[in-house]
Amino acid sequence: MAHAYNIEVELTKNSNLEKVDFNNLKFGQILSDHMLVADYDDGEWKSVKIVPYTNLSLSPATSALHYGQAIFEGIKAYKFADGRVSIFRPDKNFERFNKSAVRLEMPELPEEIFMGGLKKLIATDSAFVPPVDGASLYIRPFMFGTEPALGVHPSKSYKFIIITGPVGAYYNKPLRVKVETFYTRAAAGGVGFSKNAGNYALSLYPTRLAQDEGFDQLIWTDAKEHRYIEEAGTANLVFMLGDTLVTPGSETVLQGVTRHSIMDIAKSWGIKTETRDVSVQELLEGIEQGNVTEAFAAGTAATLTPISEIGYAGKLYKLPAPETREFSNKVLDYLNELRYGRIEDPFGWNF
Ligand code: COI
Repeated sequence: MAHAYNIEVELTKNSNLEKVDFNNLKFGQILSDHMLVADYDDGEWKSVKIVPYTNLSLSPATSALHYGQAIFEGIKAYKFADGRVSIFRPDKNFERFNKSAVRLEMPELPEEIFMGGLKKLIATDSAFVPPVDGASLYIRPFMFGTEPALGVHPSKSYKFIIITGPVGAYYNKPLRVKVETFYTRAAAGGVGFSKNAGNYALSLYPTRLAQDEGFDQLIWTDAKEHRYIEEAGTANLVFMLGDTLVTPGSETVLQGVTRHSIMDIAKSWGIKTETRDVSVQELLEGIEQGNVTEAFAAGTAATLTPISEIGYAGKLYKLPAPETREFSNKVLDYLNELRYGRIEDPFGWNF
């Protein structure tokens, strides 16, 4: 039988709102006044509530700290000129969150808690949604195993939490990326498609090595041969190859909501789109022949960030100047118009 969750709200007595400079936002440094917390125990979700943002108290034996049952999502909310707040496609994140949960042997979230809780939390902290172009409220739902036990088994208890905070751009310049041909992000049968904490932990060392060489980010390649392009780790990858917008189709990449939206918009504009394998060779030869007119990272945090240069085997491959790229500039403008409510929403993406 469906459970009815009564989400109680306890309001803060010490708001941080006054300290926020909406015209000077970075990514992920400011957090809103409230958070949603739900606890899972004895096979069911209980005590769903919105409370003032505060620290957690955890046993040092908390299972997620040892064995990594930890998943999350990234969503954004935007403020319209009339003050209304819209959340961009949270239904897609809800779907993906539960796929991650299943793969990590964690309980799925009922829609009422994820979607209902999200809406109520954003309504509670709507004053934190920046009334500024280029800024948004970043929403971070996450869940982790809380059982204080050191045996390797699925945790018997979990916390689901949503925190939010006003953000500006994640990347503030075009990216120089290196094709990674030794380290691996994800293999077939693994957890690459899920948004679990470990996928990000494993990226840090190889990314730092690339940063030591002057790159910003990595392009991950397939685990078997390092021949096919996968994703950037913090975002998906999209290329304009000839007249076709192409994004790598491997099952090991995260199924990004921004990437999906961009492919759908392109399709609606009559542009040819393909989700398929893209080899490193196809991409680099294409760049040399002037056939790759656009390359960008697409993600909730990253939005659409142009790639300016790709490094491979000691050589640099330069892409056309970002300001000359017709499609990415047009689609980013369109996405912004839609998310800030300045045009019709023909896709029904604003919640
Ligand atoms: C997002 O785009 O929301 C993400 O979760 C990626 C982030 C870790 C940079």
